[in-house]
Amino acid sequence: MEIAPGAFHLGGRLSIDVQRAMVGQCRALMDGPVPAYVPIVRGGGKMHVRMLCLGRHWNGKTYQYEDTRTDFDGLAAPPLPDEFTVLAREIAAAVGMRLVPDLCILNYYDAEGRMGLHQDKDETERSIAAGVPVVSVSLGDTARFLFGGLRRREPVEARMLESGDAFVFGGPARLRYHGVSRIIPGTAPPGLDVIGRFNLTFRQYDL
Ligand code: SIN
Ligand code: MN
Repeated sequence: MEIAPGAFHLGGRLSIDVQRAMVGQCRALMDGPVPAYVPIVRGGGKMHVRMLCLGRHWNGKTYQYEDTRTDFDGLAAPPLPDEFTVLAREIAAAVGMRLVPDLCILNYYDAEGRMGLHQDKDETERSIAAGVPVVSVSLGDTARFLFGGLRRREPVEARMLESGDAFVFGGPARLRYHGVSRIIPGTAPPGLDVIGRFNLTFRQYDL
């Protein structure tokens, strides 16, 4: 399951019951009082996901974290639910890493959803330098996830991230490029009752 130093793909990490409960929470959050939205990033392009940040808001115009959504509606980012925090800590611990998450970016991908290759590097320099991992949890339709190197032009490996999988990248893998090239419609587990894909990435802003 360690696919590169510091990078782990944990297939089938979450039971279907846990997945179902999380899907319910994701929906309630995304359609709640502080709703998910499609960010417009610097340069003016629209992202191909609906996003809701928990704990701390990632501003797609400034690429910085903030308490309120100054790029959208000025509302405060909702808190990160305790169950989510516990789960992310446990997943990191399962691969021998320490994460005390204080924020989560929750994205919903429809059949056309995707995300270009990028690095997660907007957390503090201290957190990144310490190699504190990003923990990613996937729910619903399978994604073709791209995982590359520390430079954009390095080769990328495609991995299918299925519902209930976790993916962790920390230590020497913390700044590896990654993205989602496509969603495979109709691949969510029967009984989960999901069209599309939810992805949660848990991070620790600072040490
Ligand atoms: C991300 O890189 O922020 C999301 C990755 C994913 O959806 O699997
Ligand atoms: Mn990312």
